[in-house]
Amino acid sequence: MAKSIQAVRGMNDILPEQSAAWQYLEDTLRAVIHGYGYREIRLPLLEMTELFKRSIGEVTDIVEKEMYTFEDRNGDSLTLRPEGTASCVRACLEHGLLHNQVQRLWYAGPMFRHERPQKGRYRQFHQIGVEAFGMEGPDIDAEMILMTARMWRVLGLSEVTLQLNSLGSVESRAAYRGALVDYLCGCESGLDADSRRRLDSNPLRILDSKNPDMQAIIENAPQLPDYLDAESRTHFAEMCAILDDAGIGYELNPRLVRGLDYYAKTVFEWVTDRLGAQGTICAGGRYDGLVEYLGGRPTPATGFALGLERLIALLEAHAIELPDNATQVYLVLSGTQGIRRGMVFAGELRDAISGLRLQVNCGGGSFKSQFKRADKSGAHYALVIGDDEAGQGSVALKPLRSDGEQETLSQQQAAQRLRELLDIF
Ligand code: HAM
Repeated sequence: MAKSIQAVRGMNDILPEQSAAWQYLEDTLRAVIHGYGYREIRLPLLEMTELFKRSIGEVTDIVEKEMYTFEDRNGDSLTLRPEGTASCVRACLEHGLLHNQVQRLWYAGPMFRHERPQKGRYRQFHQIGVEAFGMEGPDIDAEMILMTARMWRVLGLSEVTLQLNSLGSVESRAAYRGALVDYLCGCESGLDADSRRRLDSNPLRILDSKNPDMQAIIENAPQLPDYLDAESRTHFAEMCAILDDAGIGYELNPRLVRGLDYYAKTVFEWVTDRLGAQGTICAGGRYDGLVEYLGGRPTPATGFALGLERLIALLEAHAIELPDNATQVYLVLSGTQGIRRGMVFAGELRDAISGLRLQVNCGGGSFKSQFKRADKSGAHYALVIGDDEAGQGSVALKPLRSDGEQETLSQQQAAQRLRELLDIF
C-alpha cells in the first residue's frame, strides 16, 4: 500500500460529527450580523503580498514571520490571506464602494498564519469579520461591541470579558511612542531579545510581551491613556457611555495594543479564561487611516473579527446543547419495484414536509442490514417499501427509538402521519 498523506500541520479537517456545531455557530452569528443591517462580501483567499505588508505593517509578527507567501507562475508575489480587513478595504476601493456612502460589511472564511500550532492556534483558522466604513463617531464602535455582546448572549456564552483601550490619534501615539522608547532605553539591560529588536521598529508591541521577566518593566512603563489627545479621549468616553447605558461591562486595559499596525483610537478584545493560553475569541477596533493608506480618500473605519475554532471550543467548554441535525427518517427499500417507487416517494415526502431529513437506503442489503444502517443514521422512524407495498401504494412505518407498533399507511397518508410524529407543522 502507498504511504498515506497527512494534512499540513496546523490545518484541520472539520469532520461530519463536528460540522453540525460549525453550521449552528455560523448560522447563529450570521443571523445576528444581518440583524444589524450588514451585508456579506466574499473575498479571494489570495492577494498581492504588498497589500498585507502595507496594511498590517512590515514589522508585525504576521508580516515578518507568519505569512504564506509564494511566487506564482507569473512571478507575482502572492500571499494566502492572514486576515480579512486588508482584503475588504482593497475590494471596497477597487469597486468604488466607499464613494460618499457608508458601508456595513461582513465576511467569513479561512485565514492562514504560519504560527506555532497549539490548542486554539492553528495555521489555517476561520474568522467571521465585520467592517464598517464612513462613520467616525463613537456610536459605530459601540455598535460593533453591542453586536458581539449579543452574539455571546444568543450563543449562551457567559464567561467572556471585554477589554478596551484607546490608541489615540496618530499624533498622540507618536508622542506616547517617544516617551515609551525613552523609558525603555533607560531599562535596556532588562529587555529580552525580542523587545530589544522591537525598540526601534514597534515599541508599543513590547507591552504585549508575555515574557514573565519583562512584566515589571511593562508595569512601570508610561501609560498610553495619559498621552491621549482630547478628541480621542472624548470619542472613547462617549463610546464607553453607550456601553454603560446598554449594561455592557468592560475592563480598561491600557496595555492592549493589538498585533496589527492599522489601528487608532478604540481597540477591543473579548477574552475568556476557559480556553488556556489562546483566550481571545474576538478582537478589533478603529482603523481610520487604512483606506487612505491603501490609496483611497480619508475614510473612517472600524471592525472586528472572531475566531470560529475558539468559539467552537468555548461552546464545548460551556457544554452547550446544539440543535440536532441527524436524519429523522430512513427509507428501507427492497425489490426492483420497491426501489423504483421508493426513490420517487422520497421526493414526494421532501416536497410535502419542508426541512425533512430523510435518508434513502442506497446500495441494497437485507432488511436486517438496512435496519442496522437506519439505526446508525440516528433516524427515529423507518419507512419500508418493497415490491408489495409498491404495487399496493402503501408503506410500512416502524418506530426505531420507542416501543410503538409498526403501522401500515397509504403512501398519500405518510406525510401527514410523519408530521404528527415528528411534531412538524
Ligand atoms: P486578529 O486579532 O489578528 O485580528 O484576529 C482576530 C481573531 O481571530 C482572534 O481574536 C482569534 O480569535 C482568531 N485567531 C487569530 N489567529 C488565530 C490562529 N492562529 N488560530 C486560531 N484563531 C486565530 C484580525 O484579524 C483583524 N482583521 C480584526 C479586525 C477586523 N479589526 C478590524 N476589523
